[in-house]
Amino acid sequence: MTVDLSGGTVTTTRTEPTAPPDDRRPVIRTRGLRKSFGDLEVLGGIDLDVHPGEHVVLLGPSGSGKSTLLRSINLLERPTSGSLVVDGHEYASGTAHPRGTPVRLRRTVGMVFQQFNLFPHLTALDNVALPLRSVRGLSRRDADERAAHDLDRVGLLARAGHYPAQLSGGQQQRVAIARALALDPQVMLFDEPTSALDPELVGEVLRTIRAVAESGMTMVVVTHEIGFAREVGDLTVFLEHGQVVETGGREFYTECRTQRARDFLQAVK
Ligand SMILES: Nc1ncnc2c1ncn2[C@@H]1O[C@H](COP(=O)(O)OP(=O)(O)O)[C@@H](O)[C@H]1O
Ligand SMILES: [Mg+2]
Repeated sequence: MTVDLSGGTVTTTRTEPTAPPDDRRPVIRTRGLRKSFGDLEVLGGIDLDVHPGEHVVLLGPSGSGKSTLLRSINLLERPTSGSLVVDGHEYASGTAHPRGTPVRLRRTVGMVFQQFNLFPHLTALDNVALPLRSVRGLSRRDADERAAHDLDRVGLLARAGHYPAQLSGGQQQRVAIARALALDPQVMLFDEPTSALDPELVGEVLRTIRAVAESGMTMVVVTHEIGFAREVGDLTVFLEHGQVVETGGREFYTECRTQRARDFLQAVK
């Protein structure tokens, strides 16, 4: 498969048929997932299935628990209770099964944050290559080669030697996407990946994410870009106060069932 993620033409030559999503084990499966900070319950029991190749959009007002849900799926937050199964391994506490380690989980799940979290003292290439060496154990040479490949995928090979301060916000975010892709995750989590960008830089990052989606990557995306959400979201999950209020396919954007979701869409459109 050859995919150009630079925001230009997508040339995917995938030949293998994609299985109907429901025929396959979910990559992510949460059941009754809860998270509290002290007395504050932020996730009140979330059931979510993300199937291979599926693109799930998480919507909800500020403070509804979207980031906490993504961070719990990546064990950046420890769920208080409930079940979190990723790639067939149970990671949450309170279950009879052996738990997987955060290290194993993060080999499966890639994450892209609102703030790009690049190391300022490393070039674009080294930002992508560093985790390949530290997490994947690649030699410097192999890591650099793979990093160059993934910078090329996001259209930034020519900027490989640039430091983050020499790149626009959109380019920095594309480096962060390349860094996550380089680790070959089975699923990518995006937490408001364009919210920190100037408006004129949003488009290039959305095009890159769209191309990642079209490459067949499984993903969960938190975004307030409703046009993009509607286009990319096979499944949309609307959260409020740490609860799933409504889920739907593409029809969610035109005929959602709950007043809460209608009000939200009206406000962000
Ligand atoms: N580390 C934390 N400690 C205490 N409260 C937190 C922490 N992280 C998030 N919260 C609270 O959890 C709620 C949900 O936050 P968050 O998941 O960031 O929502 P969203 O991403 O939907 O805006 C908010 O009330 C927030 O203040
Ligand atoms: Mg958030």
